[in-house]
Amino acid sequence: MGDHVKYPEGHVLLRKFHEALPVIDRGEGIYLFDTSGKRYIDGSCGALVTSVGYSNKEVVDVITQQLAKVPYVNGNHFTSRACEDLATLLCDRAPGRLDRAFFLSSGSEAIEAAIKFARQYFVDLGEPSKYKVIARTPGYHGNTLFALSASGRPRYKKFFGPLLHDVVMLQTPYEYRAPVEPYEGAGEDFYIRQLEDTIAREGASTVACILLETVSGTSTGGSCAPKSYFRRLQKLCREHKILMIADEVLCGVGRTGTFYAAEQEFFEPDLMILGKGLNGGYAPLSALLTRTDLVDVIAKGSGSFMHAQTYINTPSSVAAGLGVVQFLDRHRIIEKSRETGAYFLSELKRRFEKHPVVGHVGGRGLLAGLELVKDKRSKAPIPRSLKASETLGRVLMDKGLVSWFNTGQIDGTEGDILVLGPPLTITKTEIDELVGLLEEGVNTWFASFSKNLI
Ligand SMILES: Cc1ncc(COP(=O)(O)O)c(C=O)c1O
Repeated sequence: MGDHVKYPEGHVLLRKFHEALPVIDRGEGIYLFDTSGKRYIDGSCGALVTSVGYSNKEVVDVITQQLAKVPYVNGNHFTSRACEDLATLLCDRAPGRLDRAFFLSSGSEAIEAAIKFARQYFVDLGEPSKYKVIARTPGYHGNTLFALSASGRPRYKKFFGPLLHDVVMLQTPYEYRAPVEPYEGAGEDFYIRQLEDTIAREGASTVACILLETVSGTSTGGSCAPKSYFRRLQKLCREHKILMIADEVLCGVGRTGTFYAAEQEFFEPDLMILGKGLNGGYAPLSALLTRTDLVDVIAKGSGSFMHAQTYINTPSSVAAGLGVVQFLDRHRIIEKSRETGAYFLSELKRRFEKHPVVGHVGGRGLLAGLELVKDKRSKAPIPRSLKASETLGRVLMDKGLVSWFNTGQIDGTEGDILVLGPPLTITKTEIDELVGLLEEGVNTWFASFSKNLI
């Protein structure tokens, strides 16, 4: 095996058939090194995962101790000290009365479990007519079939239409492309009215839950809702007995400057989903949080939650979450990341807001998005046929910067967003290095790409 592998070499099913992938060797802090010795800054934590950096010894120690004691037991047979401890840590700081945690492997699985929980809750409550799910577009909740159904990502659904479920869709608040101005005020009213109209149209007695990202992740590059949006949404949901599921797979666990993104939105979700940054990339782990009063309805009704998988509440995976949360707490990483996050966003704005191809720089905490456009004034997107994201992504990788791109957020096809989210442990000096490399990469790419935009 060489330093790169391209399909059909080897036996791994690499999902991109036309790209040669570098073979990774090791990671250290915010850096990755491939087998040729090339160094990369991980500007996006892979897919917004590696929250506490690579080779974090404190996290590795917690996991290895757990592996040596007992790696796996079935969640139907046993609980474990690791599970009990992580559940307590997560619930003690959770917004509202979230006081129960259930551990799974991926974000998508936890979304599926949350939807099933909401449905079973209403059946056990004696309200079986409540089954509909409301979600928002653009948005992303995962790639398993129901999570995909609830995702506002038409491109991802292209081949799977007949296999997907009906999900009622609202528009995600997205300041840069909001249909009504000002965003705070008329914009907020617009989005809230959409929910009111939707509930009236569908009938509250048929709606079980609404699924939303507290801060919108890769779909809009970290856009935040208008100030009172979530509080007003919560009031409506309570009036109509609709459960709110906050998807914080991407924006939770410190990514936006507080442990839970919901803390800054002053609402109390009925269910909360975590993933990615919770495990820091040290093991597949996601979490579903909910409340005892909701669980009690199921306990007194059908008697058990009808969602089990082989790896629920697995001690060694949970140990990864425990190691990450303890590390974040011990070193006050999230508190410190507020300052580095503010610096990161201000540096991105300073260097890119005037760039001819960057229409918008936004985000919160250490989550940032740069929307690429053809025309800053009209906000016209770069035609997707020009593959701006793909070509820029390649230049950045060549320069040694890992980043994340999303496309199609405007209408399912058009739109290019560069998403950044380095480890929460990043220092100001490392931010300078990251942003400097990004600027160099964007300028190199634009020098040849700009001719396409004339
Ligand atoms: C907001 C959000 N929810 C859910 C998921 C799905 O998580 P996973 O890929 O671990 O299944 C993702 C993944 O990108 C996400 O960003």
